[in-house]
Amino acid sequence: MLTFDEPTVPRVWTPQPFRVAERRPETADTVTLRLQPLDASGMTIEPGQFLMVYLLGIGEVPISVSGIDDDGTLSITVRAVGAVSRAICASTPGSVLGLRGPCGTAWPIVEARGRHVLVVAGGIGLAPLRPLIRAVLDAGGAHTGLTVLYGARTPADLLYRDELTRWAEAARVAVTVDRADSSWRGQVGVVPKLIATADVDPAATRVYMCGPEIMMRLSAEALIARGLSSDAIYVSMERHMECGVGWCGHCQLGPTLVCRDGPVYPYSRLAPLMEVREL
Ligand SMILES: Cc1cc2nc3c(=O)[nH]c(=O)nc-3n(C[C@H](O)[C@H](O)[C@H](O)COP(=O)(O)OP(=O)(O)OC[C@H]3O[C@@H](n4cnc5c(N)ncnc54)[C@H](O)[C@@H]3O)c2cc1C
Ligand code: FES
Repeated sequence: MLTFDEPTVPRVWTPQPFRVAERRPETADTVTLRLQPLDASGMTIEPGQFLMVYLLGIGEVPISVSGIDDDGTLSITVRAVGAVSRAICASTPGSVLGLRGPCGTAWPIVEARGRHVLVVAGGIGLAPLRPLIRAVLDAGGAHTGLTVLYGARTPADLLYRDELTRWAEAARVAVTVDRADSSWRGQVGVVPKLIATADVDPAATRVYMCGPEIMMRLSAEALIARGLSSDAIYVSMERHMECGVGWCGHCQLGPTLVCRDGPVYPYSRLAPLMEVREL
């Protein structure tokens, strides 16, 4: 008798249903959604990795995980820039999204044990760094300290305002904006300018960075000029993605595929690729 085995479709190909448990507007164009798995097995994902977020009839886009709770609830923080991200941002509590993942590489947090953690973030780039910041704060004395340098376009574009205040109780947090308004009393200027203000011991620091590529390159160069090794700096890259698992080639960056070999790379690996053209 002819028998057919159960088709073994890798789990990462199949969107798993997650229900929107909470929708929190962060700014005029950005929301954070807390997502609870409908499937009991849920998903195990690490800070720095991303999800392919699927909306039936609209499309699928890569989005980083911005929060990981012990009960399996995941958070994503999404800026509405086009059809799919707008539809994700418009999702209300109770609606169901499909998540594929986990995709890509994670922040190598373990390397920061016993060292100072320096987080450098620009714009929506703070989202993938948020679970790393939380993990470092939760790890108590495992690190010698935490510094967060964060820049946004305007004060109205700042993400996680309440958390920034809470983080500042246990870490050094410096925030800058490109353009101030009349209410802003903080720093004005681009993120790389904050590097000069950071108290960095080059031999005992690990750096985790995400934001516009020009910001990451200038920040990395400023850190290297202060004596940091390019191996001590990790950056997260964005590319157009389709499959998210290294099959289609859409996300190629030089000899690497960002969805498989990234999005988190050591800067030592990316620096030659970033010099090829202004990315
Ligand atoms: C690994 C990875 C992680 C990501 N994590 C996040 C995340 O946590 N939160 C998040 O909001 N986005 C994240 N993105 C970006 C997100 O995938 C894109 O914003 C999304 O794919 C846009 O799709 P869309 O169909 O809504 O817009 P599209 O129709 O594709 O684009 C509409 C317009 O917006 C422009 N655009 C596209 N992406 C961006 C962008 N990121 N910023 C500004 N303009 C853009 C396009 O050039 C186009 O002009 C991530 C991307 C990658 C590769
Ligand atoms: S998105 Fe298909 S190979 Fe990376």
